[in-house]
Amino acid sequence: MALPNRPSADPQHPSAAEDMAQDSLIAALRGSAPYIHAHRGRTFVLVFGGEAARRGNFANLMYDIALLHSLGVRIVLVHGARPQIDDAIKAAGLTPQIVDNVRVTDDDALACVKSAVGALRMEIESLLSTGLASTPMAGARLRVTGGNLVTAKPMGVLHGVDHRHTGEVRRVDTQAIEQALQQGQLVLLSPVGYSPTGEIFNLFAENVAAEAAKALRADKLVFLHEDAELHVRHPDCPPQLQTDEAVALLSDNAALTADERAHLAAAVDVCRHGVRRTHLVSSAADGALLRELYTRDGAGTLISADSYDTLRQAGIEDAGSLMALIQPLQASGALVPRTPEQLELEIDRYAVMLRDGMIIACCALMPYPEQGTGELACVAVHPDYRHAGRAERLLAEIEKQARAAGLSRIFVLTTKATHWFVERGFLPAQVSDLPLARQQLYNFQRNSKVLIKTLA
Ligand SMILES: CC(C)(COP(=O)(O)OP(=O)(O)OC[C@H]1O[C@@H](n2cnc3c(N)ncnc32)[C@H](O)[C@@H]1OP(=O)(O)O)[C@@H](O)C(=O)NCCC(=O)NCCS
Repeated sequence: MALPNRPSADPQHPSAAEDMAQDSLIAALRGSAPYIHAHRGRTFVLVFGGEAARRGNFANLMYDIALLHSLGVRIVLVHGARPQIDDAIKAAGLTPQIVDNVRVTDDDALACVKSAVGALRMEIESLLSTGLASTPMAGARLRVTGGNLVTAKPMGVLHGVDHRHTGEVRRVDTQAIEQALQQGQLVLLSPVGYSPTGEIFNLFAENVAAEAAKALRADKLVFLHEDAELHVRHPDCPPQLQTDEAVALLSDNAALTADERAHLAAAVDVCRHGVRRTHLVSSAADGALLRELYTRDGAGTLISADSYDTLRQAGIEDAGSLMALIQPLQASGALVPRTPEQLELEIDRYAVMLRDGMIIACCALMPYPEQGTGELACVAVHPDYRHAGRAERLLAEIEKQARAAGLSRIFVLTTKATHWFVERGFLPAQVSDLPLARQQLYNFQRNSKVLIKTLA
């Protein structure tokens, strides 16, 4: 079958520019493969504000979401409609009533909510139904479902003001949503809910998304926000945070906007209720969602649930249990032999992960500051605790330490875990690429592979 809209360039003689574009496409596809595998069959709740629907690139955002669906992600999409509701209220000759950033929805405003939310929902559904060969939706055939999936309750009287038809999420119908997701449908939730008394309530889209993510125990909650990326706007905010760091940021950074605070607080809340990861991604930047989910460096800010394990620098009192962890791996040849004395001398270079007071994982950073590099050494996870991302967390910690020490690269010597490191951005290198002092210690009999990672 011929592909539609194939460029007319002579395929026998592609230009150098076409060759380069194809090479980078192939590299990008290959680079994204691990993420495609990891995300397939996972449940993501995505939420965007009504502002996104007014931007010129809105169709692209919808097409990107359809692409996620085609790649096997189970999607619950939540939309806001705040500016559309404001416009409908003004068009009806009324004044929007907002108290402390919360809308008061009286009967007249509710009529505007119904028309604005309904119209926007239809626009979203129509974009997700596109099948034109000239769009990225060709062949997508996406089925969108919705309905009375969110039960609401009134927000009630706040500071003496009755918020009438403004409500909060009371319950999410997880059974119906699960069924729809299992049938391959995309679930679209609007910022409205219904009460058992038959009333309609206007809800915060963010509240709907957070409650849906918690109730579904979603793998990810993604806030598509209006502003530039959080870590770009606030240099003290790293692109990856754990919930305790997000809490510290909320109390320490007075420059955060109300929306940023709300998103961070919601991220902490959902992470504490079983959602492992929340992403804050700018909806203004074209393609940022795909970059965040399918590239190693991402685009936005990731907040992940605190690990149940604790991670800290080792002290001399840890030397005994650290030795107990690494001795079997030294005996099997996976790790270089170290004497207890050597370990004690270098103990402050080690980071250890503990559960119930027992050391279950470790790694060390041996810096070579003059060469701007450091050795990632002795990466080990107790066999009972593997396959749960612990080594990955240790690597992130060491990279953080290396950056803080002004190092631009880290290297590792390994006999058995080459692939593990390559999958995490290390590239094969030569012994001659190591700092001279380390080259002199290289054990040619052991013949370890040398791998180097450049720190972004
Ligand atoms: C390599 C090691 C540190 C990984 O620890 P971990 O906490 O299980 O790692 P993570 O949970 O972050 O990653 C798990 C993934 O890595 C893969 N992996 C584990 N060991 C691997 C290896 N030697 N080669 C390639 N991939 C490996 C797992 O299969 C899993 O991938 P999957 O989910 O696709 O199946 C651990 O297996 C270990 O302690 N090995 C012995 C010591 C060693 O070789 N250290 C490196 C030299 S310094």
